[in-house]
Amino acid sequence: MNLPFRFTPDARTPRPIPESEVRAALDRLVRDAEGPAAFLGCGRSDPTEVEDLVRGLPARFRKVLVLGIGGSGLGAQAALEALRPVHAAPDAREVRILSNLDPVSVAAAMDWFDPADTLLNPVTKSGTTVETLTQFALFADRIRREAGPAGLREGIVITTDPDRGALRRVARALGCPTLPVPPKVGGRFSVLTPVGTFPIRAAGHDLRRLLAGADQVFRQLEGRDLDHPSVQAARTQVAHMLGGSHARVIWAYCDRLASFGDWFCQLWGESLGKPRGDGALGQQPVRAIGSTDQHSLLQLFMEGAPDKHLTFLTVGGPRPSLKVPDLSDLDPDLKEFAGRDVFEVFEALRSGTMAGLIEAGRPVARIHVPTLDEEALGALFAHFEVETALAGYLLGIDPFDQPGVEAGKRFAHGLLGRPGMEDLGRRARAILGEEEA
Ligand code: PA5
Repeated sequence: MNLPFRFTPDARTPRPIPESEVRAALDRLVRDAEGPAAFLGCGRSDPTEVEDLVRGLPARFRKVLVLGIGGSGLGAQAALEALRPVHAAPDAREVRILSNLDPVSVAAAMDWFDPADTLLNPVTKSGTTVETLTQFALFADRIRREAGPAGLREGIVITTDPDRGALRRVARALGCPTLPVPPKVGGRFSVLTPVGTFPIRAAGHDLRRLLAGADQVFRQLEGRDLDHPSVQAARTQVAHMLGGSHARVIWAYCDRLASFGDWFCQLWGESLGKPRGDGALGQQPVRAIGSTDQHSLLQLFMEGAPDKHLTFLTVGGPRPSLKVPDLSDLDPDLKEFAGRDVFEVFEALRSGTMAGLIEAGRPVARIHVPTLDEEALGALFAHFEVETALAGYLLGIDPFDQPGVEAGKRFAHGLLGRPGMEDLGRRARAILGEEEA
């Protein structure tokens, strides 16, 4: 299969899921491309609207601040970091993403933000997210005070549902440009919609290659080929889950994929951590970085409870060539590294760790990306989205909802005094005890 990455499944799958079940789940997934699995069509979407909008931005906007959390921030963050060394277009802007509502982070973003040279891009599919709306109020107020109504109209691009939600109404009131989040594409599956593509293009990266990379993965599903890497991955992962695996480790030997790991953790955790029959299922997603976590998490993975599955993500390039100088005159132990490329030493650490884990009987799969560019990144996003959705279908759970996050949100609205929800605020205080009041 001709993809910009190579997938090698682990060699230790317990009791494989029967082929007939995999076929049925895959059939359903592909049929659902018109419905809940609409993310499968994202590779074929036309990026012209986003490209034109970025091209038409006033030249004074050299920076872009994205406000978005969960699926509305993690994918873009992953892409910006992964593509950092990839050659960007000359009109590339500096793009930052503010997700959390930690006042220290918000204040730092406000220091960096200047309405004269920074475009604001609030992103929320629902248009109701507390963090994003709170941040929006702060930044929009700043634009209004410093640049007036024209500044609000020119200095904001809102990405939200085409018809509904508070931010859609704000967009109508302001008359600022907007981008639609396709209603059928779930938040954590939306990186290849304007949620991710606007920030990625603003940072100067090639959307057509990104989408083409994803489309290769999506299109090859249509042949219902059980050897498709995303299908193999879902099949083996579900076998591990049903066999008692409680943790899913994505271990990237590449600092630039740290945020990609965060994106994956949300996707896997929020999609599959659900009740099933009379029990509950889900693997704890863990993001690890090599070789750093050899000095942190590896002991746990190697000799802790054997309930973890590890997927190594390895990257060929782009990378600088750095030769290690020979300083063995200072100490003979330095001879081992002398004259080698830093990557060779890094690779030895990675191979050694994989070999050690496999020898210890731990399940280890690998995805190797020869060149981490837009095309490969699009394919990786698509691969993990398909793997996650198909795993949900195989397990008989809905991978696209997240009912478990609602209780906390409702209590928070109650605590903030939303009319009609005051009782919830009182209940939350009672649950937490007086010191929280
Ligand atoms: O996957 C999801 O649906 C969620 O994680 C959302 O992306 C997250 O809650 C943010 O939602 P919204 O885009 O509506 O602000």
